[in-house]
Formats: sequence, structure tokens, C-alpha cells
Amino acid sequence: MKFIFITLFPELIEQACGHSIIKRAADTGLLSVLCINPRDFTTDKHRTVDDTPCGGGVGMVLKPEPFSAAIAAAKKISPQGLIVALTPGGKTLCQNQVETMAAGGQALIFLCGHYEGFDERILSQADIKVSIGDYVLTGGELPALVIMDAVARFIPGVLGKAQSAEEESFSASFLEYPQYTRPVDFQGAKVPDVLLSGNHADIKRWRRKEAIRATYCCRPDLLAQANLEEGDGKLFLEIIEELKVNKNE
Ligand code: 6GU
Repeated sequence: MKFIFITLFPELIEQACGHSIIKRAADTGLLSVLCINPRDFTTDKHRTVDDTPCGGGVGMVLKPEPFSAAIAAAKKISPQGLIVALTPGGKTLCQNQVETMAAGGQALIFLCGHYEGFDERILSQADIKVSIGDYVLTGGELPALVIMDAVARFIPGVLGKAQSAEEESFSASFLEYPQYTRPVDFQGAKVPDVLLSGNHADIKRWRRKEAIRATYCCRPDLLAQANLEEGDGKLFLEIIEELKVNKNE
């Protein structure tokens, strides 16, 4: 799968892609990363990419011409590519949208902005506008990398066989249960006995319960869309009883 970043800071992207799972996926050809710098499409001596806002105000606005030319270059490489503008005013990214973007398999063309933002005539060339949450960042590169990372997990072969992207956390609408490894006793904090018991049914039940507990405590909003199974009700009641007991201790 192809990821094209339209960015004034290509080094930031290249650096971030040079490690771990994404690097291996790029090295083995499962994905490719390409940067297009709008500054390379400027025609003036100072290679200007921004200007003051029409109507006045603080900050600088990204000019349409260099970005439009960069988009045209990206489209020439990937005519079917989906143009994703990164902007805090976009729709908040969720796992469903990540899976949709991955399922198509078509190239993603990330439009990364900086400063006060894009000229509206750049934004209108995007297929979708995406934000990664309700906070403001200095630019769109980190959000674009976040999206690529989340999407890449769904490309067959990117994750090891043992891990499957679908099985994890948000896909099932629950947070993950706590994991432990050796030593069994770390500075007095012990691995729960059940995980050392060898009883697979008990372990499965414990994990399901702790996933529900984590979700109930940290992200209760997710429970509204959770895939509940038979037996979850009982686990819920146990958790609520335990929380009451802990509160009174
Ligand atoms: Cl996509 N861009 C910027 N600048 N800030 C953000 C964001 C995007 N998503 C959350 N905050």
C-alpha cells in the first residue's frame, strides 16, 4: 500500500518511518512511503509557501499554488489515491475509519499543514478531512503518521502471525486486559495467581473480566457499542461489587 505525504517537513516523515514494524514493512515492500514537498513547486526566489491571511489576523496561511501542484504530482503517481487533509477541524479518527481506509487498499495522500492552516481552496481538494482528537498540534505530520501506523497494521503481513490487527482492543470495543511476564514477583507486585494456574478456562474468564473492568473504569463510553457475550453480565456484577468493596476499604 502506498502512503504519500505532502509535507514541508519530509525529514520528519522519513525519520519516523525508519524504525520497527513500519521500517520492516517498507523494506519488504508491503508498504511504500513517499514525500512530496510543496516548496519544490514554488516559483519565486524565496520559495514562499505561506502568506498573511486575507481580511487580516495573526499567523500565516498556506498558499494554494504550491500545495495544489503537489497534490497534482501525487495524483499523477496514484490517480485513485484518497486525499486526506489533516486538520483539527476534521472528523475525529476512529478505528472503523482506519479499517475502511485499509480495506480499500488504495493509496493515501496525506495533506499536512502548518501555521494557521490551509487556504480553503487547498482544503476543498481533499476527499476527507481528519483530526486525531480534541487538542491542537503544530502540524499535520504527526497525525498523518498516526493514521499510516493505524492503517498499516491491517496490511496483510505487516504484523507477525501471532498478532492479528482485528483481534485487538478497539475492534472488539473493549480495552485490553493487563498482561504480565516474568518475574512472578517484581518488587512485591505479584502476577495474579490465575495466570500461573494453567487453567485455560479460568484464565480466559479472568481476561474477559479485566477487559470489561478496564473499559468500565477508563472508557465507559465504549460499552454502549460493545459486543457483549453471554456471561458478561455476571462479570459486570462482580466488578461493580468489587469496586464498592474497594471504595469502602
Ligand atoms: Cl489533524 N492537525 C493539527 N494541527 N492538530 C490536530 C490534529 C490535526 N488533530 C488533532 N489536533
